[in-house]
Amino acid sequence: MAGNDYGWYPGHMTKSIRAIREELKLVDLCIEVIDARVPLSSRNPDIDGLAKDKFRLIVMNKSDLADESKTKAWSDHFRSVGIETLSLCAKDKKASDAVKKAAVSVCREKIERDKKRGIVGRPIRAMVCGIPNVGKSTLINTITGKAPVRTGNKPGVTRNNQWVRTNAGIDLLDTPGLLWPKYEDKTVGMKLASIGSVNDQVINLVQLAGESIILIEKLYPGRLSEKYNAPEDAEPAEIIRCAGVRNGLILKGGEVDVQRASELVLSDLRSGKLGKITLEEP
Ligand code: G4P
Repeated sequence: MAGNDYGWYPGHMTKSIRAIREELKLVDLCIEVIDARVPLSSRNPDIDGLAKDKFRLIVMNKSDLADESKTKAWSDHFRSVGIETLSLCAKDKKASDAVKKAAVSVCREKIERDKKRGIVGRPIRAMVCGIPNVGKSTLINTITGKAPVRTGNKPGVTRNNQWVRTNAGIDLLDTPGLLWPKYEDKTVGMKLASIGSVNDQVINLVQLAGESIILIEKLYPGRLSEKYNAPEDAEPAEIIRCAGVRNGLILKGGEVDVQRASELVLSDLRSGKLGKITLEEP
């Protein structure tokens, strides 16, 4: 799948880089949101360069759908490269305090520096950034308690940044910084599509379900065959067929409706009905 299938053109990327660079000038802390199910594919590593002079926090969001042991392994990995990491569910009210606490902890050096200069109580300025659909708006909404400004995930849309003051001494930009996925690696698009982060209209869902099944079978052997009553060594097409049979997705002639069965498998994966799954390991 090519990057252009997702509406990211070089011009958009240039605009996004420019916007993020400008916004980063305004903040002390860059809160990068990624999807805990695909911590690699939902990251754009260019942020490491763009935010190199900033305090950093990675939020592994949607941890309610991700494999806990892998979330922990990824957190350890990011910490080992010097970035503090928090795993959470942005829809959960508790996420707000967790992020605020981590933000203060990450920026303690600045708070101390301010204190030595006699500056006390100056808020930390922070911004949220990340690729589309990782939950940036949801997180901003949870932290600020306000309806977020939706950017529509369109690179280069007119933005109207405003500061929102929180009770933890943090000022947050109300619009997130938009990064773009790193589509150069061809598994990135497939994995983002698997978890439902990409517009399904431009995708062959039967092919995507097949590719997702191959990946899940490798990482979680037996999980799919158990769920859909398929033989243990079943090929992807057979697993899709069994999912269709089990759920009564049968065409008039008695054949399985492969299109709808594929959509069902993807929907089960995305909603957590196949259990907690993380598609990448550190
Ligand atoms: P973005 O700003 O990064 O583009 O992402 P946004 O907040 O719009 O979230 C994208 C989708 O992910 C939304 O679902 C949102 O509800 C969901 N989401 C965000 N955080 C979490 C989380 O921690 N766990 C789970 N399970 N889902 C999360 P949607 O279906 O597009 O919208 P909606 O119907 O939920 O409003």
